[in-house]
Amino acid sequence: MSLDLPGLSDLSDLSAPRAQTSLRIAIMTDETGWHTARLKRAFRARGAQARCVDLAQCRIDTTWTPHGLMLPGFGRTLPDAVFVRGIAGGTFEQVTLRLGILHALREAGVPVYNDARAIERSVDKSMTSFLLHRSGVPTPATWVGESAAFAQRVLMREAAAGRRVVLKPLFGSQGHGLRRLGPAGARPRALAPLPSLKPYRDVAYLQRYVDAGRAGFDWRVLVIGGRAVAAMRRTGGKGWIHNVAQGAKCEAAELDAALARTAIRATEALGLDYAGVDLIPDPDDAARPLVLEVNGVAAWRGLQSVTAIDIAAALVDDLLGRRLPAQREALARASDASTAAVVPLHERRG
Ligand SMILES: Nc1ncnc2c1ncn2[C@@H]1O[C@H](COP(=O)(O)OP(=O)(O)O)[C@@H](O)[C@H]1O
Ligand SMILES: [Mg+2]
Repeated sequence: MSLDLPGLSDLSDLSAPRAQTSLRIAIMTDETGWHTARLKRAFRARGAQARCVDLAQCRIDTTWTPHGLMLPGFGRTLPDAVFVRGIAGGTFEQVTLRLGILHALREAGVPVYNDARAIERSVDKSMTSFLLHRSGVPTPATWVGESAAFAQRVLMREAAAGRRVVLKPLFGSQGHGLRRLGPAGARPRALAPLPSLKPYRDVAYLQRYVDAGRAGFDWRVLVIGGRAVAAMRRTGGKGWIHNVAQGAKCEAAELDAALARTAIRATEALGLDYAGVDLIPDPDDAARPLVLEVNGVAAWRGLQSVTAIDIAAALVDDLLGRRLPAQREALARASDASTAAVVPLHERRG
């Protein structure tokens, strides 16, 4: 079935029920490339049709019956499910609207993978820290507020105890904008001035620095549908910042029970269907990994390079199997029924 449905100029009614022969999925992204190609291939292999949709091109339109939601390529219909691969940055209003479209899709009954509420929680590092803490998931001590005076006091107190803190942008990613503050080595009483919070949009997110030693590394664990499916160690990068985007090298890592359990609990604490969880060993207890952050719109190219598991296929299987089981069965039944109707005719003819 073609997905190239008419736009605003064509007023033919596409809301009338039609025989749908396969699931139609929207992959929300402003960038097509490696990830979207893999997702599309995985959907195709399972008989679902996926197309990329830019959230910036979607509209809320209360005259657009029956849903009041317009997604390019879907005419007056809605997709059977949405996979959120990327949400482009923009003004506060633009991002609110883009997330609003995802919220609206959920309200209209469309499974959104990951759900907008969970994406919001994971994008906001302060909410992530709060929810991890509330769920008892091991994570470094964290302080977030708008007061520079409060942040300065935290920094001085931590410095007095010989500890450092990491200042992070509230909505940061890929290791951008991180600053390590406080005294290095054995100079606990050294002055630790707080930098201007202007580049941090006047919010101080401070997380206690976890010193993983000279050969520093962290872990990225991918959790899909309540299971930890793959892990890697990231070494190198920009000093102590081990993001792949900062030049870190990926190597396969064993998914031991503590790592898997902690990553799964972190994903559940945020209510995510799938997540890329960043963890670091606790220097005081090697068997207790600490969660640094949780990514609800996680890329997986680095991890795919060190694991045999087909990650796109695992994501698609989870979305179709766990979030769309009823629709899948209905389609299978419909296709069985149409086959049953067609086969005898052919048999008679033959
Ligand atoms: N509290 C911390 N202690 C030690 N290293 C950290 C800490 N926070 C971040 N890092 C390092 O910086 C990297 C990026 O931090 P993260 O919180 O994951 O932000 P981003 O969203 O930019 O990836 C982490 O993967 C880790 O290598
Ligand atoms: Mg990270």
